[in-house]
Amino acid sequence: MDAEQIHAEVLDKYARHVNPYLARLMNFAGFPVEARAEGCYLFDHDGRRYLDCLGGYGVYSLGHRHPKVIEAVRRQLDEMPMGGKAFFNRVLADLCAKLADIAPSGLDYTFVSNSGTEAVEAALKFVKATTGRAKIVATDGGYHGKTIGALSTTGREKYRKPFEPLMPGPVFVDFADFDAMTRAVDGQTAAVIIEVIQGEGGIHVAPDGYLRHIRSLCDAHGALMIVDEVQTGLGRTGKMFACEWDGVSPDILTLAKCLGGGVMPIGATMGTPVVWEAVFSENPLAHTSTFGGNPLACAAGLAAIRTIEEEGLVDRANEVGAVLKAGLEEAAGRCPDLVSTVRGRGLMLGVEFTMDDVGELTIAQMLKRGLVAAYTLNNRRVIRFEPPLILSLDEAAWAAETFGDALAETAEVLAALA
Ligand SMILES: Cc1ncc(COP(=O)(O)O)c(C=O)c1O
Repeated sequence: MDAEQIHAEVLDKYARHVNPYLARLMNFAGFPVEARAEGCYLFDHDGRRYLDCLGGYGVYSLGHRHPKVIEAVRRQLDEMPMGGKAFFNRVLADLCAKLADIAPSGLDYTFVSNSGTEAVEAALKFVKATTGRAKIVATDGGYHGKTIGALSTTGREKYRKPFEPLMPGPVFVDFADFDAMTRAVDGQTAAVIIEVIQGEGGIHVAPDGYLRHIRSLCDAHGALMIVDEVQTGLGRTGKMFACEWDGVSPDILTLAKCLGGGVMPIGATMGTPVVWEAVFSENPLAHTSTFGGNPLACAAGLAAIRTIEEEGLVDRANEVGAVLKAGLEEAAGRCPDLVSTVRGRGLMLGVEFTMDDVGELTIAQMLKRGLVAAYTLNNRRVIRFEPPLILSLDEAAWAAETFGDALAETAEVLAALA
């Protein structure tokens, strides 16, 4: 089958059996079919190579198919991939102990699940059980997943409205508005749920002191603090955990995405002894998952964390991120009418455009040149760069230069249309 036929067949099956509306959208954007991946690169059905600066929305911190993770998963596959569930699971124990070792203080326990939204679901159940309260303070533009509980705290009407009524209890405040947060947290509040950098909301970085402010409000009112690090966790922002930027330890912290080393799906909900006692002391099976904590995913998680440490990837995120950010800023500076800001931390960067649709056009131009990025789910004016933390300085420079070329051509196209 030649390349064109492969694309046509996949598109047809998407249209008839996956999601015809998504098929139309992706086809309109000119997306190819992915065939394989290695390190920082994706290869399509036609053998074309792309530098992956989307990084699976934060999944590929170690790049694609990191040999240490592949090796750990292969070994586990040969021993026991899924576990029998009745006995103790040693790999799960090792992963949870390792997470407690590296996490902010107090987060001694971990419940392991299979995705980000499941990690958030567990967090929401746990804060209810611990406080006996239902009110959850969340932020506009925040993103916590699309299952009913997590969706109820996701700050965008477009995703919530069609599925109402959702879980009762959430109220929304503007992100980074200290006073609004002060007014919202009270004696009825079970928890505040917050991202340190709003990822899908458009790469908005929490200002200094914002997390500390939330921590003190929660303490004052007997509420809990959930930090959702599904996208920011494990080095992406230049700290192992992004909440370290503000020196804060939450009561609950969620992880997923890169925890699986880009090889296995996994989610994790970390919490304090107080939370675990409230949830599990009466009923040790109060929250469970058939596949959560399976040895394959835990082996991948353990290998991922060890590799991040061994290869110094947290520092790399800072070093390479600074080069990429400076390059993007320089490119953006050449088209001030089109780009308003470049922001972010480490290798979690966003470029905000001054108009709708410019991001889409620029992404198409980047794709043509072999560079992949995407816009953020809750803010189409912002495209995000979340490449693997193993990205080299040369690759970072190339990505910035290629973004600049794509932007310049977009400017020409827009000028011709004006
Ligand atoms: C901060 C945050 N929380 C939760 C989620 C949901 O994760 P998943 O898509 O694995 O369910 C995401 C996904 O993008 C996220 O960025």
